[in-house]
Amino acid sequence: MKFFIDTANLDEIREANNMGILDGVTTNPSLMAKENIFGKLEVNKHYKQICNIVNGPVSAEVLATDFKGMVAEGELLADLHDNIVVKVPMTGDGIKAIRYFSDRKIRTNCTLVFSAGQALLAAKAGASYVSPFLGRLDDISADGIGLIAQIRRIYSNYEFPTKILAASVRHPMHIVDCAEIGADVMTAPLKAIKQLLNHPLTDKGLEQFLKDAKQL
Ligand code: G3P
Repeated sequence: MKFFIDTANLDEIREANNMGILDGVTTNPSLMAKENIFGKLEVNKHYKQICNIVNGPVSAEVLATDFKGMVAEGELLADLHDNIVVKVPMTGDGIKAIRYFSDRKIRTNCTLVFSAGQALLAAKAGASYVSPFLGRLDDISADGIGLIAQIRRIYSNYEFPTKILAASVRHPMHIVDCAEIGADVMTAPLKAIKQLLNHPLTDKGLEQFLKDAKQL
């Protein structure tokens, strides 16, 4: 399973990249706003900086909601850097835009996916990635991991090339569950990725080894 980091924070992206486990980055307008990146020029400059850190796909979201606007914005974003994947929301116009980009070999990430039917449409339109938001489903007492498993079965039935990018991942067990059911990619905050390191028996074992090593 590929590991993407879900942030627009350059320090966190560098830290994850330096761990040697990072395969890509996802951003969204909320994450950009959190870093105080405003205005087209600043936003584009920031995307380029991210692309220069990570050797992998970087999702950049269109802000337009109509087909023409999405196409115009997406083409500009795709021109910024080879790593850019155009992130498009799951709407009727979004699906049309994904088909347009797919026909022109521009990679897309269909975002805000909350049902298997939506994921099926995204794959039919030729999305490179589909992003089911598992944490937000869990937030409303729905089954986020169950949705990813369902999409996995559907895509496998028909050998759709669209990659399942599990998003809205909140904690380390989400990451492990995604790997177990065969998500192609998961994107998570740095904190959740680093939490995978932790086990009290590792700490205890290391403490004992270091204590015993003093006798050598
Ligand atoms: O990748 C989508 C993600 O940013 C949404 O996460 O935690 O806001 O639901 P969250």
